[in-house]
Amino acid sequence: MSILVTGGAGFIGSNFVLDWLAQSDEPIVNLDKLTYAGNLENLASLQGDARHLFVRGDIGDSALLDALLAQHRPRAVLNFAAESHVDRSIHGPQDFIQTNVVGTFALLEAVRAHWGGLPEAEKSAFRFLHVSTDEVYGSLGPTDPAFTETHRVEPNSPYSASKAASDHLVRAWHHTYGLPVLTTNCSNNYGPYHFPEKLIPLMIVNALAGLALPVYGDGLQVRDWLYVRDHTSAIRRVLQAGRPGEVYNVGGWNEKPNIEIVHTVCALLDELRPRADGKCYREQISHVRDRPGHDRRYAIDARKIERELGWTPAETFESGIRQTVQWVLDHPDWVAHVQSGAYRQWIHQHYAEAAA
Ligand code: NAD
Ligand code: DAU
Repeated sequence: MSILVTGGAGFIGSNFVLDWLAQSDEPIVNLDKLTYAGNLENLASLQGDARHLFVRGDIGDSALLDALLAQHRPRAVLNFAAESHVDRSIHGPQDFIQTNVVGTFALLEAVRAHWGGLPEAEKSAFRFLHVSTDEVYGSLGPTDPAFTETHRVEPNSPYSASKAASDHLVRAWHHTYGLPVLTTNCSNNYGPYHFPEKLIPLMIVNALAGLALPVYGDGLQVRDWLYVRDHTSAIRRVLQAGRPGEVYNVGGWNEKPNIEIVHTVCALLDELRPRADGKCYREQISHVRDRPGHDRRYAIDARKIERELGWTPAETFESGIRQTVQWVLDHPDWVAHVQSGAYRQWIHQHYAEAAA
């Protein structure tokens, strides 16, 4: 038996692949296009490991999907592949529609054809797990209850709209065709291999480089944070015991304003890698123009996955963020390699506009 994972060279996908193979000998076929966000260095520890087969390709490539499914006959397909950065979706939504909507459609169609041809026992055991986000639910007011799985879908950015569209397709493929799907909607992840365009790794690498720490607007936007390995354990659990057709919210019960996150990162760096001039990293904070349409607050009600599947996060925010900062300090080569020319170009263009 094997599983097919898409987007397994990205942040969450690579953590999933590493965690899976640390706990099981079931092989993984890993299909990833290697966009700017895909990085085979995340998977370097699997070099020569016969349980991991990496295939470079696009989830929108139907012929490739048909061939992979026919050859490997996976018992499950897990879809991590996506364009994932909200700011990039605002600069250019095209790739988000192409991969997140059209790509998910192509994947669903290939999986449906494969699943339809399976013998009955394999067919009923098969699962398609779609990895999605809390952003599809829109933005909460300060005292609103956290998002449950039945919260209305109200995406506000091109990214979240494209993810909401993919969630709808997945739901419809279950309702109409009976495809045994599972959907997870998770809050903000952080941890090892996090690409430094996102808040936490960006703040760490900018602080260490002596650069400004760009906080959008007043910095009082609230996110719920989950250590990435808690997300991957939730996905394993949903794959194992989730009920087909169901949606599971995944979150860490860790609502925090952005500015508090940045202060925490600064304090950890003050302790673990003090500035040479003896000053605090907080002095590098700079408030910049807000993100257009910026969602004010996300909060996840994770009681369903806790109650039905017995999943709870292992890390507190305090333990997870300390490990994350330490991980970046311990991996200067990884950081240097991801900050390629293309990365520098994005940072320069995006933050020059935000500072204006
Ligand atoms: P990421 O941007 O780090 O990685 C995405 C991966 O998908 C990359 O390896 C990229 O090369 C690959 N990819 C992109 N387009 C592809 C295509 N057309 N075909 C094949 N591969 C393609 O993203 P991430 O943060 O790891 O997120 C993974 C999934 O989890 C996404 O679906 C995202 O929406 C969801 N999610 C992310 C978070 C978060 O905090 N990062 C939270 C909840 C849900
Ligand atoms: O909620 C889950 C989502 O979390 C995932 O679906 C997305 O793929 C993932 O990118 C993340 O989206 P966010 O927009 O919440 O993450 P980001 O790290 O970009 O921003 C987190 C918060 O920090 C947000 O309120 C914007 C703010 N921010 C971000 C950056 C990059 C800043 O203030 N300054 C910055 O430079």
